[in-house]
Amino acid sequence: MGKFVVRGGRRLEGVLRVHGAKNAALPIMAASVLAASPVTLLGVPKLRDVDVMIEVLQSLGASVAWQDDALTIDPRGIHQYVIPQELMLKMRASIFVVGPLLARLGHAVAMQPGGCSIGDRPIDIHIYGFQQLGAKVSETDEGTRLDAEKLRPNTIHLSYPSVGATENLMMAASLIAGETRIRNAAMEPEIVDLAQFLEKMGAVVRGAGTPDIRILGREVLHGVTHTVIPDRIEAATFILATAATGGHLTLENCIVEHLPGLTGRLRELGVEIRVDDGDRVEVWAPERYRTVPVSLHTGPYPGFATDMQAQFMAFLLKVPGVHIISERVFENRLGHARELRRMGAQIVADQRVALIYGGRPLHAAEVRALDLRAGAALVIAGLMCDGETVIQDREVIERGYEDLDGRLRALGADIEKQ
Ligand code: UD1
Repeated sequence: MGKFVVRGGRRLEGVLRVHGAKNAALPIMAASVLAASPVTLLGVPKLRDVDVMIEVLQSLGASVAWQDDALTIDPRGIHQYVIPQELMLKMRASIFVVGPLLARLGHAVAMQPGGCSIGDRPIDIHIYGFQQLGAKVSETDEGTRLDAEKLRPNTIHLSYPSVGATENLMMAASLIAGETRIRNAAMEPEIVDLAQFLEKMGAVVRGAGTPDIRILGREVLHGVTHTVIPDRIEAATFILATAATGGHLTLENCIVEHLPGLTGRLRELGVEIRVDDGDRVEVWAPERYRTVPVSLHTGPYPGFATDMQAQFMAFLLKVPGVHIISERVFENRLGHARELRRMGAQIVADQRVALIYGGRPLHAAEVRALDLRAGAALVIAGLMCDGETVIQDREVIERGYEDLDGRLRALGADIEKQ
């Protein structure tokens, strides 16, 4: 495994165009399985997780090719419905192809993804939903098997607004004639993007972005061209890195409405944020942060995104005062507190709640990226302090950030890959 070496203490300054969203691209790539003709996707970020989804689609029989920045997926050759175990192990989001496979071929087999560093992450809500659509579930040597001669539309009430389960069920429902209703659905912007994609293919999707989604499916969906939405988590990461280094950044292709909870809090702390032309956002960090205690908890959209929590914690180390973060989406997603402590951060944390004593100096250290966003938090902390911070396991970070080091260098940071 490689590392990032960061020599901090420099302000970030410049202009950056936000890439397409990983978490929108992955389900949309999976939804291409539903089409009867090729799909072309624009704005798909070139990331490790996207490479794994390409491998998943190819293993099922699809032809997938990049042509410059356009990704074309031809799903006509898909006849295979067992998702290879090693790909499930590489990326949990491989589960997204289950709904489309079940709807298209009547079968899908997937190993249950194991626990990961941020929690158990079961798929019971996905399975329950497929059962409500008429699938039979059995356990086999290859994994959990779902079979359905013919799926039927139904009303499904989710016990929790799971993003992945909502997406998986929307995809399956789009190929079922009749109206399926998903209640207590997730409301993330990536759900709305997927809905738009499914609508272009021929389904009718109403209510995406609310807890009550109705999908009028079709027996045949056709291939289309679609551009994925900008990555709100990438945008948030760069905004927080700028705020943490006293910098000045202009982001292009940034939808600020997708960052509820973040911009308001940063403004309260004295960060200036100006939105021009809809998708151009300018951020100035103040000379000095006021002492304002911050209290936040993560939650399903429009709550504060769990995927921004680690980076926000690193930023809070800059803000004088005692702050509290409560992680309510995943049961074990504060591991970065321990790594930040190696850099001198004063943080007291259990599995769900962290107390952060901000405004005290950090020092460089050798730390490890435990998960993608935890790794991004360490990069931010490294940018904040003098000396050479070494972040081990950079590949974990590269699962979700395209050319992070190159983009930070373009903004004046001293960071390199080793
Ligand atoms: C997606 C995002 C991930 C983000 C998360 C929450 C993608 C590829 N990933 O993950 O970056 O952190 O949303 O915003 O889009 N749960 C169950 N049973 C299930 C499904 C989920 O108990 O069947 C639990 C999970 O363990 C977790 C919570 O529900 O505690 C939220 O998970 P979910 O919304 O499903 O997240 P993902 O779709 O896996």
